[in-house]
Amino acid sequence: MSRFPLGRTARIAVLASGRGSNLEALLRAFPCDPRDGGALGAVRLVLSNREGAPALAKARAAGAEARYIAYDRREAFEAEAIAALEAVDADLVCLAGFMRILSPSFVRRFRGRLLNIHPSLLPAHRGLHAQRQALEAGDRRSGCTVHFVDEGVDTGRVVVQRDVPILPGDTEESLAERIRVQEHRAFPEAVRLVLTGEITADGATAEGRGSRGSAGVHG
Ligand code: GRF
Repeated sequence: MSRFPLGRTARIAVLASGRGSNLEALLRAFPCDPRDGGALGAVRLVLSNREGAPALAKARAAGAEARYIAYDRREAFEAEAIAALEAVDADLVCLAGFMRILSPSFVRRFRGRLLNIHPSLLPAHRGLHAQRQALEAGDRRSGCTVHFVDEGVDTGRVVVQRDVPILPGDTEESLAERIRVQEHRAFPEAVRLVLTGEITADGATAEGRGSRGSAGVHG
């Protein structure tokens, strides 16, 4: 049985290490303090392993609780993160440019409600420097994937993919920029599909949807 839909506004938490542009897209789609009482979700908490991460400032500006948690040892970071997530009773946890690998026990605790965004069309180009990998492979298309997190690296079930062309003369930066535009659409879409219960980590999908979620959506 899927935990979603909840029948109330879902409390969304975001883990981010960097600039936080995906966080901003999530905050736009799921404002911290929604005016609409029937809102699907609201971003309530943002955690970062980087003290000066712009994501934290963006979260505070939007009215969400924002906390830096030092990442010297993974166990200590995760214990503190779990306490913070439980304190707000987070229903869904989104990794939006969170540049650390979470332990299997953390992943199991949030199974089915832990999403990540990755700048490639998974299963192609897992791990770091996905845009560089796509350019080096001579690919003609790239894109982004929002997926459930499982114990592997970038291996969980795909919720949404959006693709972009790779153009002659593209650099890692120009490709990343083109992908980012699609990321900002894909992450809110994926959150919506999960919160409505249309896609679950264990394969139950609304009729007519393939294993790629809204695979018909191409940027
Ligand atoms: C995105 O490209 C995302 O795919 C990757 O990290 C980047 C985060 O960017 N996992 P931002 O911090 O959301 O701007």
